[in-house]
Amino acid sequence: MAKFKIALLPGDGIGKDVTDQGIRVLGAIAKKFKHEFIYKEALVGGVAIDETGDPFPKETELICKKSDAVFFGAVGDPKFDQPGVKIRPEQGLLRMRKNLGLYANLRPVKVYDSLINISTLKPKILKDVDIVILRELTGDLYFGEPRGRRDNGQTAFETAIYTRKEIERIAHLAFKIALKRKKHVTSVDKANVLETSRYWWEVVNDIAKQYPKVTLDHYYIDIATLQLVKNPAQFDVMLCTNMFGDIISDEAAILSGSMGMMASASLSEGKLGLYEPVHGSAPKYKGQNKVNPLATILSAALMLRYSFALEKEALTIEKAVEKTLSAGFRTYDIMEKGCKLQTTSSLTDKIIKNIK
Ligand code: IPM
Ligand code: MG
Repeated sequence: MAKFKIALLPGDGIGKDVTDQGIRVLGAIAKKFKHEFIYKEALVGGVAIDETGDPFPKETELICKKSDAVFFGAVGDPKFDQPGVKIRPEQGLLRMRKNLGLYANLRPVKVYDSLINISTLKPKILKDVDIVILRELTGDLYFGEPRGRRDNGQTAFETAIYTRKEIERIAHLAFKIALKRKKHVTSVDKANVLETSRYWWEVVNDIAKQYPKVTLDHYYIDIATLQLVKNPAQFDVMLCTNMFGDIISDEAAILSGSMGMMASASLSEGKLGLYEPVHGSAPKYKGQNKVNPLATILSAALMLRYSFALEKEALTIEKAVEKTLSAGFRTYDIMEKGCKLQTTSSLTDKIIKNIK
């Protein structure tokens, strides 16, 4: 019996549609294994701008810092997409990553046997695919200064920066994860053009010497995106810079059939982690009880595994998801002939039944 404090940040769009279901699943786990999860809800993204003028208010930051984990939905709302808008919901997510020290984004790519016909890729290419995309989250073009406009606003620019410390800590994590898997790290960069990438390459090679059991290779981002759809089974851990990891993790979602299947964990050097579905806020589906809750439910499993060290409980969720899919229960995004179409909440009902 253990007690955990969770900061609950549903955010924008379908954020609440899916975190509500994640909480129901966590409730079933709490009951079965006699744990207690205590939630404290806070604002982030567009809803936080509307209420406070700030996409990541101080109060939210404090609630996150006092918690064992952050369970997060999504940010983003088209009403902030107009050019010239100064404060955007996405800035909330970026500041959250920076201020909570969430430097490592882990996105597992799994192909479920029962979903092998859903992907736009051929089943024979998807056989044996099991990848972890590990994206650095606090450096690169996303945060480098200076940035902005100059020449009377007629020129726009960003700065890409990577420090040795940033590259080292994410590289260590990549090798440690690989040791528990197929012992293969592929580092993704653009070292034929970018100085930050050449340094990335150099530091990753240095760290690799401490992990002689792990095979390291390097791909440039352009060829990596090609190989990921040509022969994805060759990859184990893909270690990516912030910008390239953002791009390649969306591409990788297609391997598992739908963006609605892609879970993620953002880890810090301490215990605090943030858990979120990769799919984003999809505002047009908000409140319709239609979208796929599995990315969020699988993110809850990652929370149990990485922040609470509850491996058995995490596996219980993952097995329940697998069983539910095999039984043919599907939301619209992963629907196929002969399967039974479910809503967000009715698919969750099936998962909970399989947990019990
Ligand atoms: C992601 C998203 C974010 C990013 C956006 C919403 C800021 O695309 O988590 O992949 O670019 O990191
Ligand atoms: Mg992205």
